Amino acid sequence: MTDATRHSPGIARVNKPLQPNSFRGGPDSTGKFGGFGGRYVAETLMPLILEVEEAYAAAKADPAFDAEWRRLLTHYVGRPSPLWYAERLTEHLRAQAAPGKGAKIYFKRDELNHTGAHKINAVLGQILLAKRMGKKRIIAETGAGQHGVATATACALFDLPCTVFMGATDVARQQPNVFRMKLLGAEVVAVQSGAATLKDAMNEALRHWVAHVEDTYYCIGTVAGPHPYPMMVRDFQSIIGEELRGQMMAAEGRLPDILVAAIGGGSNAMGLFFPFLDDPDVRMFGVEAGGHGVHTVTGHAASLTGGRPGVLHGNRTYLLQDAEGQILEGHSISAGLDYPGVGPEHAWLHELGRVEYVNATDDEALAAFQLCSRMEGIIPALEPAHALAHVIKAAPELPAETLMVMNMCGRGDKDIFTVAGHLGVKL
Ligand SMILES: Cc1ncc(COP(=O)(O)O)c(C=O)c1O
Repeated sequence: MTDATRHSPGIARVNKPLQPNSFRGGPDSTGKFGGFGGRYVAETLMPLILEVEEAYAAAKADPAFDAEWRRLLTHYVGRPSPLWYAERLTEHLRAQAAPGKGAKIYFKRDELNHTGAHKINAVLGQILLAKRMGKKRIIAETGAGQHGVATATACALFDLPCTVFMGATDVARQQPNVFRMKLLGAEVVAVQSGAATLKDAMNEALRHWVAHVEDTYYCIGTVAGPHPYPMMVRDFQSIIGEELRGQMMAAEGRLPDILVAAIGGGSNAMGLFFPFLDDPDVRMFGVEAGGHGVHTVTGHAASLTGGRPGVLHGNRTYLLQDAEGQILEGHSISAGLDYPGVGPEHAWLHELGRVEYVNATDDEALAAFQLCSRMEGIIPALEPAHALAHVIKAAPELPAETLMVMNMCGRGDKDIFTVAGHLGVKL
């Protein structure tokens, strides 16, 4: 990265110490990333968590496991996902920038994966693991429905019964994905507790797992939950950043300067970032859901910007909570981003200052959603539309030689009803 890039106005680097020799060393043997992560679970769940940890360690060391997962990624998912130079968007933003400014924008196109998002990468790894462990049925939680659809898909492929827990609010706002899961043969359980969104779905899935530990594998959709889930989901999603390294070298002969990804629980972002964490010249931005604005108390889901450390769903991380430590409901226009927590590795990278966490509001994401559709012929999911909103803000301030890559982690078909509603269009 050039000096000018580093000191560009508007995306000034947060001045925090960079401590460890490697940012890729975590977690430790207890599942901790610095003071975050771990496994805070009921006694009854502990043997099962240890069983998952042991099985994953053995699978990771087995070349046949890796080969089977990669075969599925190639022939079933359609990987590698392309790296796309978003030329019209780049030129559009350059037209608004000062001379010599306007970063070159690329999309890593994980929305082209089978099932329409990055979730399938980690689902296939986990379903292969579940089979290896001899588990007979699969449960999952889902927010936007993409993880539920990916899990239902893999279960259809491997002939495994599948139950997906989904908050009733999300069932209502993600109808196309609910129907897809049912078509694929999954049972969808609408969870009524709390705000009836992702947090509540995960609570219910964990409760169910405790009662069915013998035959059931819990397929978690993001880099959250107790150890080893944050590490395991990150490892599977790192295929995104690994592919990008080679693709960027082929396209530009060097590594990217800036990576940008949306943060719900943080799995697509960890997948993009992890392979670059020890490349000091690569800056990384995680974009949280700013909702109605991070100045509001419960009108956003920016847990790193507006939360503080606590324990939820088996790990210690940044959470939105009230003065007494009760978890607050997050808000976002995007069902995949309204989780009131974040994966523990992000909490650690945030405290170290290695990754910079910003946010985009509902309105900014809606504007980015429409601009991308018209400029690139790509209808993004509302989740990556948040990342794109940051790209739109930052790119015009950066020197033109800056290479900026945004993870297009999902396609927007599932969101057209939500967006139409916000635009006052009746479908
Ligand atoms: C398309 C898409 N992107 C992003 C997310 C957020 O999850 P994560 O932060 O784990 O990538 C979701 C979650 O449902 C999603 O469906």
